[in-house]
Amino acid sequence: MAPSDPGAPVGLAEILLPAGEPELIHRELPLEAEILELGCGTGRITHALLALGRRVTAVDMDPEMLEHIDGAETVLSRIEDLDLGRTFGGVLLMSNLVNNPDENGRVALLRSCRRHVAANGMVLVERYDPESGNDPTPGEREFAGVIFRAFDIRREGQLLYQTIEYDAGARGKWIMRMDGVRILTDDEMLASLAASGLRLLRWIDERRRWLVAIPV
Ligand SMILES: C[S@@+](CC[C@H](N)C(=O)[O-])C[C@H]1O[C@@H](n2cnc3c(N)ncnc32)[C@H](O)[C@@H]1O
Repeated sequence: MAPSDPGAPVGLAEILLPAGEPELIHRELPLEAEILELGCGTGRITHALLALGRRVTAVDMDPEMLEHIDGAETVLSRIEDLDLGRTFGGVLLMSNLVNNPDENGRVALLRSCRRHVAANGMVLVERYDPESGNDPTPGEREFAGVIFRAFDIRREGQLLYQTIEYDAGARGKWIMRMDGVRILTDDEMLASLAASGLRLLRWIDERRRWLVAIPV
């Protein structure tokens, strides 16, 4: 599971390391594509993309997060409200933000992707594994340089409730309750893309956590 709470604290965001996402993005997007990263946080992915030689514009609604971005143009905005009046070869909507439990909210995020993607560009979306929470057994794994412990896991239909402890040893420990993120079926995902003027080009990985969408 990726760090996915929209309210993840700055201290935790600063500690988390990239976990293969920059390489995936670099592989999927043509070299010349300028990248718009929506919900960049403190730049865990931004900085790695810059190091790979990519041009990135980084957007977040939290000014404290944006203060940590170094080397990319930053924009303080809610994704839903963003209207830069220009388009990008690659638009990123990661960190499971698309798992918004409210359908209108989800479509508003994807419409922003649509507004900002070039006619021949691509949108990369990262979502929760559709199987998330089906097995309520508490689990522990290392991700992004931190130990993630998931417990109090409950799936009610499509809604997932769980508590995650992020254990970074001497650097800190954070506990967050995720209340009711919506685990999207493939059909729901495709319907939200369609409602936003996008269509699926392909799933990137076997678990279908990542997809490429293009404008209709
Ligand atoms: C969990 S963090 C992930 C940051 C980064 N994508 C990463 O993978 O390290 C999610 C970020 O998205 C931002 N965010 C969440 N919802 C947003 C919205 N509707 N508009 C703008 N930023 C948003 C939060 O402020 C936070 O910085």
